[in-house]
Amino acid sequence: MLNNVVTTSGLTKHYGSIKAVDNLSLEIPAGSVFGILGPNGSGKTTTLGMLLNVVNPTSGTFAWFGSSSHSDNRQKIGSILETPAFYPYLSAVDNLKIVAQIKAIGFGNIDPALKTTGLYDRRFSAYRTFSLGMKQRLAIAAALLCDPQVMILDEPTNGLDPKGIAEIRTLIKEIALQHKTIILASHLLDEVQKVCTHFAVLNKGKLVHAGPVFEHREQQLLEIGAENPEVLLETLLQFPEQLNAVLKNNLVTVTLPANLRVVNVSRFLFEKGIDITHLVLQQKSLETQFLEILNEQA
Ligand SMILES: Nc1ncnc2c1ncn2[C@@H]1O[C@H](COP(=O)(O)OP(=O)(O)OP(=O)(O)O)[C@@H](O)[C@H]1O
Ligand SMILES: [Mg+2]
Repeated sequence: MLNNVVTTSGLTKHYGSIKAVDNLSLEIPAGSVFGILGPNGSGKTTTLGMLLNVVNPTSGTFAWFGSSSHSDNRQKIGSILETPAFYPYLSAVDNLKIVAQIKAIGFGNIDPALKTTGLYDRRFSAYRTFSLGMKQRLAIAAALLCDPQVMILDEPTNGLDPKGIAEIRTLIKEIALQHKTIILASHLLDEVQKVCTHFAVLNKGKLVHAGPVFEHREQQLLEIGAENPEVLLETLLQFPEQLNAVLKNNLVTVTLPANLRVVNVSRFLFEKGIDITHLVLQQKSLETQFLEILNEQA
């Protein structure tokens, strides 16, 4: 069982003096929905381009499926980076038949791909009658035709309205359920938080963070108030497990480890004779953390 579908080591792309991607070492776990987050121009598309052999690295290496030979991977990796030009007057089915012929594969996957992408009912409609969201889903259907193990999506919800965005999100989750690994570049934190299991943050071509989303979703801040905040802080520091607690504006903020619940803390304080006057649990959003991560780099 392979743990990573792709690993990169010191992957670098320079355009003249621009370091589009700078010494990137990344591991993308098999079965993950891996978000590559970063502001505009941070190197996301360039990274995906290198992984797809459409951009030549300046230096560094990458290996798909544990092998640095890139010859036999084309059928295993689907992407919408090289979206085929669809014919406006042909139907969805006929367009996919052309794609299948170009890829030299049978028509057997056309119906399943149309069903997965929710276009089956509209399969005989001409491409030109499709909404932007449907066009995007047809591109994903085309990428699904060779039943790839990995799907690479670059900003798949760009330009879509909230309904179109929600449809793409559902689709991404459905594709993930088919045991495919998804690599998704996005500058939308919310998108990554909602669909990804893992994420990496790029800033000016450099990797500034990589890890599971789950860990972050679990990270919660507990705001506590009491008659005497100093005593409250002292008491919290006596908690059997070491807690990160800080006193600010007469409130103590505790970073709650994943294994603890609010009642563990409140019961402890009650037993120590502390009257709690204020108790608020805040989810630390990925956005807050993303900004913290970027600020740490500044
Ligand atoms: N073909 C090219 N020639 C010159 N510079 C390039 C080229 N492609 C990308 N760059 C530069 O490399 C940097 C990274 O670009 P890239 O498109 O990878 O960023 P991105 O993170 O995908 O941005 P966005 O969120 O806007 O899509 C940018 O400064 C960009 O101008
Ligand atoms: Mg891009």
